[in-house]
Amino acid sequence: MLGSVLRSAGRQGSRLALRQTSLAASNSLAKTQAPVMFRGASMSAVRDMSTVKIVFMDAEGATETVDAEIGDSILDIAHEHDIEMEGACGGEMACSTCHCILDEATYHSLPAPEEEEEDMLDLALGLTETSRLGCQVIVTKDMEGIVIRLPAETANMQ
Ligand code: FES
Repeated sequence: MLGSVLRSAGRQGSRLALRQTSLAASNSLAKTQAPVMFRGASMSAVRDMSTVKIVFMDAEGATETVDAEIGDSILDIAHEHDIEMEGACGGEMACSTCHCILDEATYHSLPAPEEEEEDMLDLALGLTETSRLGCQVIVTKDMEGIVIRLPAETANMQ
């Protein structure tokens, strides 16, 4: 009788130990899988939130869509993607070779150009009501899908 009770307890103990081992294994698996899945989703979300697609359109209407890093200037983005935007003065507002034309909604959503930028724009060829210097326009998350037109020619006033 005592032997039978001990054997039964032993079997239950073994089942319990087996169940605990199984739980520990599944917890361990969950711990190793969950962060990987979270990390993957999280990195993708971070990457998606740090860039927007913007379109450069040249004077002939040819377009190129690029990933633009939020916080970079339009000039930085153009140089990064080999878009024909000169930027001769390196963003010092001394040349107007980074002249670009925004759509009206984007133009009005931005802070107004400083007087120094206005002065340089006055010297730009093909000036429009929505012209800006690419070196002074910073990419924001609200610029997803905007089209930035490039003038047929630029003038270097340096
Ligand atoms: S790069 Fe010269 S004014 Fe923008």
